[in-house]
Amino acid sequence: MSRYLVGQEPSLRVLTDAICDHISGLEGLAQDFKGQKKPLVVSVHGPPGVGKSYFHQLAAHVLYHGENADKVQSHCPGRQCPGYKVLFGMDYTTHDRDEQHAMLQKALLDQVSLHPQSFIVVEEYDKLDCHMRGFFRQILQGGKVGNQSLGDSVVLLESNLGFSTLHRMLEDVPSGQREDIEMDRVQRALKDMVFTVWQKQQCEGFSDSQKLLRNIDFFLPFYPLERKHVEKLFAMRLDLFGETALSHGAVLTYNPSLIDFLVNKVEFDGRYPIEGGKEANTVTTGYLSRPFRLFLQSLEDNKEEEDAADSHTSYTWVVQKNNMVDIVLNK
Ligand SMILES: Nc1ncnc2c1ncn2[C@@H]1O[C@H](COP(=O)(O)OP(=O)(O)O)[C@@H](O)[C@H]1O
Ligand SMILES: [Mg+2]
Repeated sequence: MSRYLVGQEPSLRVLTDAICDHISGLEGLAQDFKGQKKPLVVSVHGPPGVGKSYFHQLAAHVLYHGENADKVQSHCPGRQCPGYKVLFGMDYTTHDRDEQHAMLQKALLDQVSLHPQSFIVVEEYDKLDCHMRGFFRQILQGGKVGNQSLGDSVVLLESNLGFSTLHRMLEDVPSGQREDIEMDRVQRALKDMVFTVWQKQQCEGFSDSQKLLRNIDFFLPFYPLERKHVEKLFAMRLDLFGETALSHGAVLTYNPSLIDFLVNKVEFDGRYPIEGGKEANTVTTGYLSRPFRLFLQSLEDNKEEEDAADSHTSYTWVVQKNNMVDIVLNK
């Protein structure tokens, strides 16, 4: 996953270890006080667009893509990805709370009955109202939905809460490097922040908030991205284009000034891209996708000549005077 997800290595390490331990049953803390296996529960925090959802999409692919135990082809992530369930607060927009509650309960119950080893994601966890949060608190505390155990499942809570905490820690670390921020310290800071917010919301009493916190195994940072990460995202996209070109018999290269050109199209607020890694996608679509498609088309059209020449022809990405990007033949 580290080939795809940039800038979040500290949390990626913890997440992959925790999930692997949970799956292999190594996790020493897997038993709660009643001797039941408890689900692995992780809360991930950070500003929008920095890879929180991207992480669980990649994880779903790693965990479930391919043939599952029932010999059914599963396409993960996607509609036919049976073990992976993403719940949004928004899915349950009915005004009737009891009905909302029942729908959510049913969705979860169906999920774990059919797939005891599920990967359940609650997006925008911080935006759940008190009632819904109470519902999740009960489920996580009991480790069950109805009478179905969640013990073999992983529950990921995704929230934008904590982004000022993470900004501050990133600004304060002397080296400026996220890798140098102690994981214990950042986890404690996120946990304290969550507790403070919950107390302010007054959804539940002090001890219920504490119980809920105790049921969350990790509070993990998804840090704001920085310029070097956006550069890496573009380099990754360009390398992918390069691989596709090669599979069509052409060598396609770029030079670093192209990366600078693309990064300059991304909007920053000081050190940080405002939309995280998201804008790299729109800039790619806006500047690179069309010339690349036309390029592939021209390779197809000239296929016979190329084959006759029997060597890889070499091309380069260039920024034209009119600020558009194109692909030209290397002379
Ligand atoms: N750290 C990252 N590494 C690689 N791509 C990223 C990263 N962060 C964001 N992206 C890109 O931006 C898109 C939106 O990010 P997403 O994970 O949905 O944000 P959020 O943190 O709000 O859940 C992703 O699908 C991915 O293409
Ligand atoms: Mg998200």
